Amino acid sequence: MISPKSEGSKMPTITYVEHNGTEHQIEAEVGATLMQTALDNGVPGIDGDCGGECSCATCHVMVKEDWTSTVGGPNESEEEMLDLNPERLSYSRLSCQIEITDDLDGLVVELPEFQF
Ligand code: FES
Repeated sequence: MISPKSEGSKMPTITYVEHNGTEHQIEAEVGATLMQTALDNGVPGIDGDCGGECSCATCHVMVKEDWTSTVGGPNESEEEMLDLNPERLSYSRLSCQIEITDDLDGLVVELPEFQF
């Protein structure tokens, strides 16, 4: 679902970078999750099998390192799910647990080659 851009308000722009380097710049809706925004805009590489319940880990993304403090770290249940992922990196997050805010305007996340 893509909402029309309301006049005068700038939507945060998120860049998703596929494993092969293809970039997708998306104007994201504040309050949506990073996972849902990717799915709604046809960004490949995020499955989101559990619908955002933090129980599948198929929405794994890597937050660009200069964004990690703004985005923050994983919560306890997200941490447990990430631990199951063999491709986990120190800046891995589950994108269903990241809510879009105005502060995330310009955020860049990288997508893994495969979701496990
Ligand atoms: Fe399942 Fe994120 S969509 S853990």
